[in-house]
Amino acid sequence: MTEAKKKVLSGAGLRGQIAGQTALCTVGQEGAGLTYRGYDVRDLAANCKSFEEVAFLLLRGHLPNSSELTAYTKRLHDMRDLPVTLKEVLERIPADAHPMDVMRVGTAMLGTLEPEMSFEQQYDVVDRLLAAFPAILLYWYRFSKDGERIACMTDEPDIGSHFLALLHGKSPSALHREVMNVSLILYAEHEFNASTFTGRVCASTLSDLYSCVTGAIGSLRGPLHGGANEAAMALIERFSSPEQAVTELRAMIERKDLIMGFGHAIYRDSDPRNEVIKGYAKKLADEVADTVVYPVSEAIEKFMWDEKRLFPNADFFHASAYRFMGIPTELFTPIFVCSRVSGWAAHIFEQRANNRIIRPSAEYTGEEQRPVTPIGER
Ligand SMILES: CC(C)(COP(=O)(O)OP(=O)(O)OC[C@H]1O[C@@H](n2cnc3c(N)ncnc32)[C@H](O)[C@@H]1OP(=O)(O)O)[C@@H](O)C(=O)NCCC(=O)NCCS
Repeated sequence: MTEAKKKVLSGAGLRGQIAGQTALCTVGQEGAGLTYRGYDVRDLAANCKSFEEVAFLLLRGHLPNSSELTAYTKRLHDMRDLPVTLKEVLERIPADAHPMDVMRVGTAMLGTLEPEMSFEQQYDVVDRLLAAFPAILLYWYRFSKDGERIACMTDEPDIGSHFLALLHGKSPSALHREVMNVSLILYAEHEFNASTFTGRVCASTLSDLYSCVTGAIGSLRGPLHGGANEAAMALIERFSSPEQAVTELRAMIERKDLIMGFGHAIYRDSDPRNEVIKGYAKKLADEVADTVVYPVSEAIEKFMWDEKRLFPNADFFHASAYRFMGIPTELFTPIFVCSRVSGWAAHIFEQRANNRIIRPSAEYTGEEQRPVTPIGER
């Protein structure tokens, strides 16, 4: 391998490089941990009663007071319904499509029906997406699975409960409501992760918000990023006991397989979101008297730490928590979208407010310059 190639590989993934500034979030910094606009994510999860409070914080810059929260919650509630044309498009998407592709198509289609004509409309666009995402996903899902054209409005007070009500056709319990809100809060923002960076790069060209969000959804879809919660569930479901999990994981580790839901690009010892969602996964396991999924998950966690010093990231216990609430695995990553759109948009606003087109350089490792051989001589 050439020296140039080695150098590129050692800096692979832009790991550890400062790629810009943000006032939105810290991830894994000494003494700060994961914070949104200066608030520890665990503090927000414990003390904010709804995800809307945190979305307001990220997008408007401060925690809402109670009248601001009431007005914001009502605003989002009133924006939930979908245009008829969008419903028609959703009905034409195949039943076996990947739900993240439905989110991507839904965003792009809404962008043609209600385009962002100027950046002054950016708050309207993100609020519309926050409000409409559960219906975009679940109108398609319920139509393609049951042939049912569901009503896209519910009286549920927050986006998390609205999501569960559209999925299950009934109001969620108090515990499920709480878990959904906490989950959306935990997933809302995470600095320069791949999908957010995608959104910022797109924003730096002065493109519209729908394009930025569509690109971000594409990045989140991959199993090394948001798709990890689905992959973690697929892993957990393969095992019917903790003993079987340990035996098979040992073989997987020997084969150098990736264990989904473990490890992180920035955190080294733990992911602060894990302790919160793990606590809720345990509560939900007790509620459904689970004797397999949670014990298997804990056995995987212990094995991975003992053998590889790898810890569960936010996605691992989200898998079982969602499963216990009856959410189908293929809808896990779209829930991440319903939340992270708040962080993406906050970054896009930040980029727009102080923009220079993002255009890094590459270190060239290819052939020396050479003349084109005429086609008959190649
Ligand atoms: C998140 C992730 C992409 C970070 O990648 P990264 O920054 O390259 O990871 P690290 O530099 O910490 O990896 C160090 C070593 O641990 C290994 N490792 C990291 N995560 C691993 C995992 N989940 N399973 C098995 N081995 C893992 C790496 O392969 C690497 O091994 P090597 O030194 O032999 O090449 C990676 O941990 C991963 O693929 N995890 C699974 C997917 C996942 O859960 N994604 C959601 C992230 S929130």
